[in-house]
Amino acid sequence: MPASAIVGMQWGDEGKGRFCDLLAEDADLVVRYQGGNNAGHTVVVGGEVFKFHLVPSGILHSNTTCLIADGVVVDPAVLCAELEELQRRGVDASGLQVSGAAHVIMPYHVTLDKAEEAHKGAGAIGTTTRGIGPAYADKAARVGVRIADLVDPDRLSGRLAGVLPRVNALLVHLYGQDAVSADDVIDHVRPFAELIRPRVVDGRAVVIEALADELDVLFEGAQGTFIDIDYGTYPFVTSSHPVAGGACLGTGLGPLDLDAVLGIAKSYTTRVGAGPFPAEADEADAALLREAGQEFGTTTGRPRRCGWFDACMVRTAVALNSASSIAITKLDVLDDLDVIKVAVAYELDGQTLDWVPSDPVDFARCKPVFEEAEGWKRNLSGARKPRDLPPEALAYIEMISTLVEAPVSAVSVGAEREDTVWFEE
Ligand code: GDP
Ligand code: IMO
Ligand code: MG
Repeated sequence: MPASAIVGMQWGDEGKGRFCDLLAEDADLVVRYQGGNNAGHTVVVGGEVFKFHLVPSGILHSNTTCLIADGVVVDPAVLCAELEELQRRGVDASGLQVSGAAHVIMPYHVTLDKAEEAHKGAGAIGTTTRGIGPAYADKAARVGVRIADLVDPDRLSGRLAGVLPRVNALLVHLYGQDAVSADDVIDHVRPFAELIRPRVVDGRAVVIEALADELDVLFEGAQGTFIDIDYGTYPFVTSSHPVAGGACLGTGLGPLDLDAVLGIAKSYTTRVGAGPFPAEADEADAALLREAGQEFGTTTGRPRRCGWFDACMVRTAVALNSASSIAITKLDVLDDLDVIKVAVAYELDGQTLDWVPSDPVDFARCKPVFEEAEGWKRNLSGARKPRDLPPEALAYIEMISTLVEAPVSAVSVGAEREDTVWFEE
């Protein structure tokens, strides 16, 4: 597929990284289009575990160029640490490119994120406290610092002169913290800016030229559809556009240039942080899923909230993302269950919905209608072809495909590359 996107169909951590790594094998260019180091994308190769936060999950393929595009927010210290770690592990990331138009997470954004969360008390979002919201807020307020500013000392001073009075007014007067000085900020970021400067490109031009040359370009989404700032459960969302449309807003891709969208959906549902979750399991079942699926945050280590596959959510996500097919991940996590619950509809005010209502207050009041699928009670980890899957597992896949109105192109039965079963389309 010349231009395809990988998107999360739930609340993140669906397994986007492992599918990005798989598809990157045939890609000329892999492009991260939004979010920042709130993302934690895991790729496991021969028992070696890689957790990518900013670097695209295609980086393990030496024939693939990776680009951090305009729509991403980049913490320079985190990017440099991630690159250093990759180098230490023998991964060649020398070709990684960073768009000059990407916004920068400055140290004061991280301070503000923590202060804002603490200030909200019981109403906290449960952010990753990586400075994501404050960085995107500055972008929208037109006082952000971009990578092209970061690597040019004169431009950086000018941008800081514009933003620091606002930052300090908040820090000192609202949050009771010390003011930050431009000199301290510049001293902190300078060594990282030096390391990043040789990687800076016109990201938009890179993407447009790759598409014009009919290269294979893979767009990697972070987070998931239901923490999209517009389509998610506002205000319990991230501050960017994880949906496939975000790949257009964040890279230089035109809306008609995407040939395929692979939606990644876990075989059950997880959520990190606060917000509505109609299909959340009771504590006993949630504990089973959390343990079997090792559902602890890749970025923050927090235990993830766990629940059953919510077909209304994924059905809605299929529409919002124009998903051409879905991949169902972590099917093996359900191996031991006698019965598997699936939310097939919601009840709200006497009505039955098969759709996520756009008002999150209504969504929080939705009562899921569950159906039960029969468990397969077998270890799926060795499955490589559809014929290796027991009939109950095939029936579960078929049930999901019918409910979400999308073909299932793959399922995964383990974290390694080869633990993947592809279906003919
Ligand atoms: P992402 O943020 O969407 O890339 O997903 P994460 O990396 O945060 O979370 C997915 C987790 O599940 C990682 O620890 C993966 O190694 C693991 N994983 C991915 N696919 C499978 C699978 O099919 N089975 C199992 N058991 N684990 C998987
Ligand atoms: P990947 O790419 C799961 C959640 C946070 C919080 C909300 C806002 O690994 O799927 P933020 O720090 O973005 O302002 O936090 O979004 N969140 C994620 N949850 N996976 C992620 O990324 C997430 N990135 C942010 O837990 O609820
Ligand atoms: Mg993750």
